[in-house]
Amino acid sequence: MGRFESPGGADRMRRFARALSADPVETLLYLPEELSRHREHPVAYDVDTAWEEHLHDLLGAPWPCPEAPHAAELWGSVEQELHDRGLAFGRHTYGGYSDADESLARAVRCVVLHRHAEVVVETGVARGVISRYVLEALEQNGRGHLWSIDLPHPFRPGLHPETGAAVPTRQRRAWSYIEGSSRRRLPRLGRQLGRVDVFVHDSLHTARNTRFEMDRIGRILAPDGVMLIDDISTHQGFALWTRAATGVTSLVCPSADGEGLFGVVCASGA
Ligand SMILES: C[S@@+](CC[C@H](N)C(=O)[O-])C[C@H]1O[C@@H](n2cnc3c(N)ncnc32)[C@H](O)[C@@H]1O
Repeated sequence: MGRFESPGGADRMRRFARALSADPVETLLYLPEELSRHREHPVAYDVDTAWEEHLHDLLGAPWPCPEAPHAAELWGSVEQELHDRGLAFGRHTYGGYSDADESLARAVRCVVLHRHAEVVVETGVARGVISRYVLEALEQNGRGHLWSIDLPHPFRPGLHPETGAAVPTRQRRAWSYIEGSSRRRLPRLGRQLGRVDVFVHDSLHTARNTRFEMDRIGRILAPDGVMLIDDISTHQGFALWTRAATGVTSLVCPSADGEGLFGVVCASGA
């Protein structure tokens, strides 16, 4: 969750210049995203406080969910493992971004488990909390693969060694990490895969980037596919996309700490 932090003018320029010389293509692709923020506005959504039950309804899965205790255990393990390695965990601990929210992680796990998803794509990895939740669910189902597109934080190279830290070695066989921005990498991955069962957006949370990713995945979303889109409250991207879409059902869900919102889109067959 979150956005690149906004340090003061001189510091910001220095970081930008460093990023530009390290990766001119990605840094220049980022500029229109930054400019697009001037046109963003928050959306007053109708938040569904019973979202978890309604999501299970849409998935045709039992409620209360028998998987709930395992999700809570997994959260504790991830937190402990990162702590043991001396890594931070939580909101705003990743250069202005945050590790995944617990409610989003739980929703993602249930969708992958209950849908028996085989083709899962995510954008935005950071320490890899959502990646871990997806890979645990795929392992439990005994099949499936996760493709994760991630642009390591352009302005904080010191964080790069932490990328995917929550994903254990044994689970990496079912994981393809693709480095680069979603603007650059998603179109080709979409063409290669041809179908996506579950998509998770947790990369750059601008309206422009969110709609771009939803458009790209929307074209190849399986008839019973599901998209989970993080951090939708600060811009209009999710609202505009869902308003224009046909044959989908959407939910707006509160984050575990109540600070943000995430959205779920289920294709009509879901
Ligand atoms: C909110 S964090 C992701 C948190 C993660 N999903 C988790 O489970 O904890 C956002 C991540 O997206 C990366 N990122 C930023 N812009 C991106 C872009 N345009 N495309 C792909 N990844 C991007 C950031 O560097 C960071 O690693």
